[in-house]
Amino acid sequence: MVERTLSIVKPDGVRKNLIGEVIGRFEKAGLKVVGLKMVCLTKKDAEGFYAVHRERPFFESLTEFMSSGPVVPMVLEGEGAIGKVREIMGATNPEQAAPGTIRRDFADSIESNIVHGSDAPETASFEIAYFFNALELSQGG
Ligand code: RTP
Ligand code: MG
Repeated sequence: MVERTLSIVKPDGVRKNLIGEVIGRFEKAGLKVVGLKMVCLTKKDAEGFYAVHRERPFFESLTEFMSSGPVVPMVLEGEGAIGKVREIMGATNPEQAAPGTIRRDFADSIESNIVHGSDAPETASFEIAYFFNALELSQGG
């Protein structure tokens, strides 16, 4: 099934000059970039985005980190896009991420792990709408 998913190059990825590397890996896997921008999240913006994690012990630190510098959200489209992006990213903890994944290759820690990817169709819809309006998403062609 052709899906759309949201990915973000997190502040550590931008600081390490990995924007092109991350997008390149997605494109090489056959995913199409249909939306792309650079934004700075306030702490409140980050809290809204990661609201599902508000009860978790790492919420405060995560939202501080996500608002610590510019991020690059993008919408990727393709067959099985949600799972494909998660596979290319690797496990949350870089030590457990498979060889050749973005997190294994570049992440410093379980928190500073370079990249985000939606984990299900419902979260993808919410997350895409959090960053992009209809005019900002390519309709193909
Ligand atoms: P993401 O949502 O960013 O794609 O990452 P994920 O699904 O692999 O991991 P998730 O459980 O959704 O956690 C969201 C982000 O919170 C940070 N985190 N820190 N200190 C910790 O134990 C911890 N656990 C998670 C990471 O930045 C993680 O990507
Ligand atoms: Mg997640």
